[in-house]
Amino acid sequence: MLKKSVEDALNKQLNAEFYSSYLYLAMSAYFESYPMKGFAKWLRLQAKEEMAHGMKFYDYIIEAGGTPKLTAIDAPKTPWKSAQAVFEQVYEHEQKVTGLIYALMELSIKEKDHATTNFLGWFVKEQVEEEANASEILAQIKIVGDIPGHLFWLDHQLGKRE
Ligand code: FEO
Repeated sequence: MLKKSVEDALNKQLNAEFYSSYLYLAMSAYFESYPMKGFAKWLRLQAKEEMAHGMKFYDYIIEAGGTPKLTAIDAPKTPWKSAQAVFEQVYEHEQKVTGLIYALMELSIKEKDHATTNFLGWFVKEQVEEEANASEILAQIKIVGDIPGHLFWLDHQLGKRE
């Protein structure tokens, strides 16, 4: 059975993951009209992945005897001024999410909730990959700059994501 403090914190993270999905979908829409279809596809898939993260929390809360609470999701601030500005925000956002997961992990350890600590281990690992992906794409954008020809090459590369 989940302690109230842990259940509340898991529900907060459920909302944060759905917000990540919403944010990346808004970024995808921005690239659709850029138009940079590869960036749009990459971010649409990322939005889907964040929705799956949210559902992992949703399912875990139920399995652990709690109740998922679906609260309002903030509207992402749009538009962005460049591809670089978008990925600067993606990278910052992923670092913020890592901080949220770590805080949740610390709470579960403090509450001696070993099942939740074990569940969160997957997210600790996942965040290493999430930060690395965002940081790599940001570095690539900085190399090519917002030069349309070069950016289209990167757009083509990102469009290969399955
Ligand atoms: Fe759900 Fe991008 O972390």
